[in-house]
Amino acid sequence: ELGGYRHYMQKEIFEQPRALAETLEEALSHGDLNPTIFGDHASNVLSAIDSVTIIACGTSYHAAMVARYWIESVAGIPCNAEVASEYRYRDSVPNPNALIVTISQSGETADTLAALKHAKSLGHVHSLSICNAPESALVRESGLRFLTRAGPEIGVASTKAFTTQLTALLLLALVLGKLRGRISAAQETAHLDALRHLPAMVNQVLLLEPQIELWAERMAFKQHALFLGRGLHYPIAMEGALKLKEISYIHAEAYPAGELKHGPLALVDSDMPVVAIAPNDALLEKLKSNLQEVRARGGELYVLADQDSQMQAQEDVHLIKLPEHAGLLSPILHTVPLQLLAYHAALQKGTDVDKPRNLAKSVTVE
Ligand code: F6R
Repeated sequence: ELGGYRHYMQKEIFEQPRALAETLEEALSHGDLNPTIFGDHASNVLSAIDSVTIIACGTSYHAAMVARYWIESVAGIPCNAEVASEYRYRDSVPNPNALIVTISQSGETADTLAALKHAKSLGHVHSLSICNAPESALVRESGLRFLTRAGPEIGVASTKAFTTQLTALLLLALVLGKLRGRISAAQETAHLDALRHLPAMVNQVLLLEPQIELWAERMAFKQHALFLGRGLHYPIAMEGALKLKEISYIHAEAYPAGELKHGPLALVDSDMPVVAIAPNDALLEKLKSNLQEVRARGGELYVLADQDSQMQAQEDVHLIKLPEHAGLLSPILHTVPLQLLAYHAALQKGTDVDKPRNLAKSVTVE
């Protein structure tokens, strides 16, 4: 049932083109950005709300963080992302016009479910869940729903569930943007075309596996690693760090690159690999100067850049170029090499990739 793969995690990483295509199937079948993909009454609800609060745990929380950037920039709606175990116990200020979005692979995560119930008890009436388990408690508790079609995820470390969640959240940002008149007909067509190409683009990124494997060989026996990104790619840096610590037990931290000189730079020396997500976006020049600071302290850089990037490999700068700059889709594409990096680092170390120590697939107790 592993179909030639060594581990479920590897299989699930390579299943992503199919998982994304299936997750997009209904949305693309309409030929426009159609609110009904979130439920029959979605158009009314999504037009009425004035803010979005997204709640999740772990990897699903990282998807929420990316969505915050998308929703504010594409739809112009205030959005915040919260860790479920914090939201449910803090005194928050309810807003009856907010949309409460929960994200979960399993739909059974105790804190996420309790956070949704808590939000409702505070008077929130609009809810949407993005979930990979159709019959789950979370889906039953939510007014609107979007089911990701990753298929069963067996590896404890979430991979295809995350990229399909991101895809669903980008659709949400685009639908919200359209309902608010912020997306022209031409832009709508362009977004749909880009989404249609997403599975093929992920396939291209998967071809980078041999290069990533070389990075993993260099990094596997380090004690620590730092992941840097800016904007949409800061949460992807967090996800890369979480994957690495989860399955290879290397201590990894992620920072928004601009925070480097506010503390973490003190950690950088020749034993500290620094992984940077450096696509050709508006933040690249800022990021480059952060990377110079790392090099000046003897840190070894592992940079993910775009095909036409001006960045160059050097003795202390390892460079992998992704096929093309994917704009809003870029965080989805940059996730894949980081999953492969964690996977191959774990293989080098011989850890139990699919069942990392101390972790359970579904966290149904708090
Ligand atoms: C990390 C991982 C966890 C889950 C988290 C939430 O690889 O899998 O961090 O993302 O436990 O689980 P769900 O999405 O099922 O609510």
